[in-house]
Amino acid sequence: MVVAGIVAGGIGSRMGNSSVPKQFLEIGDKPIIIHTIEKFLVSLSVDYIVVGVHADWQDYMEDLLRKYLNANDSVFITTGGSNRNETIRNIITKADELWGIDETTIFVTHDAVRPFVSLEIIEENVRMAEKYGVCDTVVSATDTIVRSSNDEYITDIPLRGEMYQGQTPQSFQYGEFKKVYESMTEEELNIVTDACKMFFLRNRKVHLVRGSVLNFKITYPFDFKMAKVMLEENR
Ligand code: CTP
Repeated sequence: MVVAGIVAGGIGSRMGNSSVPKQFLEIGDKPIIIHTIEKFLVSLSVDYIVVGVHADWQDYMEDLLRKYLNANDSVFITTGGSNRNETIRNIITKADELWGIDETTIFVTHDAVRPFVSLEIIEENVRMAEKYGVCDTVVSATDTIVRSSNDEYITDIPLRGEMYQGQTPQSFQYGEFKKVYESMTEEELNIVTDACKMFFLRNRKVHLVRGSVLNFKITYPFDFKMAKVMLEENR
């Protein structure tokens, strides 16, 4: 079984003043999160979709599913967590309640605010998670990455050819996730909000899936404008 976990538990503080969290803002003729869910609905590898939404916005999300997706019977809602990994945890728990998961169940976790993920990226995530247990979607860094551990001057300039920017989906088999998650201390769980970083910290090889610059995350008002332009251009 393959479950897409759409993480939408955030409130989008970096987007600034907005009446709704950014995942509910409209681009084209529908909310960002609906575009994202639709990408997973067309994948033949994905059996179900579980969306983790902030408790205050669950009724709102239910309404959106009715309005835009005709209450599609493969899309389910659960409560978001206080951080991204907790939202993923809640999605896993919901999937277990609904269908009963096992060690081989694959979770393809994806940011609600990356609506331009391609079908190829989703399918490659499923394939790589089946083969290796865990994978992360990345793009090669185009700018030179400069490190400063003191926020004052450069402390390192890593080789650009070895630098990537992390995107989503991040995908894994449940058995692998369980082992790693259960080994984390409370303190680690509070600091590490990236699922793949948990695997990395426990010396698991996280395989790379090639992402795309189009699969950018809508974080700031500028990204929102870009997303609107992209949809206009594709009309
Ligand atoms: N997310 C989540 N649960 C949280 C926090 C974030 O599911 N407790 C989700 C967001 O909804 C988003 C994704 O993680 O789809 C990427 O996070 P980010 O862009 O940081 O979203 P926000 O936390 O909403 O934004 P900000 O950091 O600007 O407040």
